Amino acid sequence: MIDFQAIIEGISNNLQSVYDRGDVATYIPELAKADKNKFGIHLIDSSNNNFSSGDSEEAFSIQSISKVLSLAQAFGKVGDQLWKRVGVEPSGDPFNHLSLLEMENGIPRNPLINAGALVVCDVLISHFDNPKDDFLSYVRRISNEPEIYYDEKVAQSEKRSGFNNYAAAYLLKSYGNLKNDVETVLDFYFHQCSLTMSCRQLAKLFYIFMNKGKCLQGQAYLSINQVKRINAIMLTCGFYDEAGEFAFEVGLPGKSGVGGGIVALLPNKFCVVTWSPGLNPKGNSKLGMLALEQLTSKTGLSIF
Ligand code: DON
Repeated sequence: MIDFQAIIEGISNNLQSVYDRGDVATYIPELAKADKNKFGIHLIDSSNNNFSSGDSEEAFSIQSISKVLSLAQAFGKVGDQLWKRVGVEPSGDPFNHLSLLEMENGIPRNPLINAGALVVCDVLISHFDNPKDDFLSYVRRISNEPEIYYDEKVAQSEKRSGFNNYAAAYLLKSYGNLKNDVETVLDFYFHQCSLTMSCRQLAKLFYIFMNKGKCLQGQAYLSINQVKRINAIMLTCGFYDEAGEFAFEVGLPGKSGVGGGIVALLPNKFCVVTWSPGLNPKGNSKLGMLALEQLTSKTGLSIF
């Protein structure tokens, strides 16, 4: 039996001496306040044993990690129809690039780049009367964590500075791939990205992706086939132009966010979340990637 607690503590200790922790994201001014000395890690195994170290109880902005959750809700709702409006190929580009969108007539490469996530938001807005409330309660129900909230300050900060997302939304609209108005879609998207929670809460939430679509309470939210597909998208697209590097170093499906969180999972074995706000030049948590590389190398547990 693997001693996850000892391994995680060992990794936390190793990382304390890393001098270059990357840089916190500043293009959303509210995120610039994060402390890059923070580091937290939480792992849940398939029998719901929990292991953690560092600042794993501190809430942080999950940002793009939320795109997997909105994708899950939309896919669960409309099924394979979703793929008429968004692709499943890696883009090889940064998360906010727009050039492919124009070349490919307004069909985003995948649901994890910003343009693709905006289409997913549009689908949810068309299907729910109160999409922000419905999305939040979906997240609270899956995780069984009623104390998860949107961070209004972060959402408003991104609304004031998110010109690139405005450009993506207007481009999508011009190609007929947004049914609702641009302001409504962006308001939902900025709130979705502002979700704030701890490593532990996020690991409970992503448990469904390692447990064939069922949450810790045993309720099914996705079919086995849908989970397979979402995990495939995380593996190939979850780290944008660093997806290859993440597969190479870590070898797990996962998703990063510019708040410094990373979630990764090994189907039927474990789900792990790291948080450290310093990012590498590609926008992924520097210490998070190092920690997960050590975790899969030390345990020998990866999809490869
Ligand atoms: O749209 C944005 O730019 C942010 N709300 C989310 C970006 C993000 O987290 C990219 N992931 N690494």
